[in-house]
Amino acid sequence: MLKVDNLTKVFNKNTINEKKALDQVSLHLSPGDFVTIIGSNGAGKSSLMNAVAGVFIPDSGEVVIDGINITNWAPHKRAGLISRVFQDPMSGTAASMTIEENLIMALKRGKKRSLRWALNKSKREYFCSELEKLGLGLENRLTTKVKLLSGGQRQALTLLMATLEEPKLLLLDEHTAALDPKTADKVIELTCRVAESSQLTTMMITHNLEQALSCGNRTIMMHEGRIILDIKGTERSNMTISRLLEMFNKASGVQMNNDRMMLAGTL
Ligand SMILES: Nc1ncnc2c1ncn2[C@@H]1O[C@H](COP(=O)(O)OP(=O)(O)O)[C@@H](O)[C@H]1O
Ligand SMILES: [Mg+2]
Repeated sequence: MLKVDNLTKVFNKNTINEKKALDQVSLHLSPGDFVTIIGSNGAGKSSLMNAVAGVFIPDSGEVVIDGINITNWAPHKRAGLISRVFQDPMSGTAASMTIEENLIMALKRGKKRSLRWALNKSKREYFCSELEKLGLGLENRLTTKVKLLSGGQRQALTLLMATLEEPKLLLLDEHTAALDPKTADKVIELTCRVAESSQLTTMMITHNLEQALSCGNRTIMMHEGRIILDIKGTERSNMTISRLLEMFNKASGVQMNNDRMMLAGTL
């Protein structure tokens, strides 16, 4: 489904700020794979997603989705294939528009502009049934402006918008990091449910090691622009957080004692 091969990206080349954000990164995902991505701040996690989403063109390497080489495609051209949810609940939705207006926009994603879209009864019914699945009561608030929603509600809505028209690939970049722990758990639970029910191929960056092991079917750890651990199958089902930290310390040569250190970016 997704084939990332030998991706390398150096920022600010030939300056004192030169930084190799990606160093020969390769990652192959099968349809329905859900990979969680962990690693300290600056490890290259977001850069990997940015390369896949087309935010920048890599210096070398390839991004291939379903056999199509999209390495040099502009981000808008990939929008029909890839959906993203970011950390900031404000970034994924249009605050001054209503819930139903936002959902209509989500239906248009990656489609040709010439297609006409109108809010009609059948669309409203469809939105209601989808919102109902979130379990947040938003199905009764179709005409509420999104700015009146809480961060967690907005992030749940963003997730729904990102998956309404099933993307080939769902990219989640610490999408629960700005939420309080209880709301974050709820949005994570929702994420797993949505990804599972639609068998979405998903990449999720998280600082939460428990989330990293409980969601999805594979976990990769990045360090200094490289994938240093790739855990799946029974190795993953038997994995504990302390064992994961131990493996990180061994693979990276850096001492990290708990996931708070990842969060604080002390490395
Ligand atoms: N657009 C950019 N310009 C310059 N440097 C960047 C840019 N994006 C990322 N970097 C650098 O590349 C490295 C990896 O960043 P990033 O992928 O955001 O890490 P992570 O998401 O794992 O915290 C960091 O040192 C970061 O400062
Ligand atoms: Mg990041």
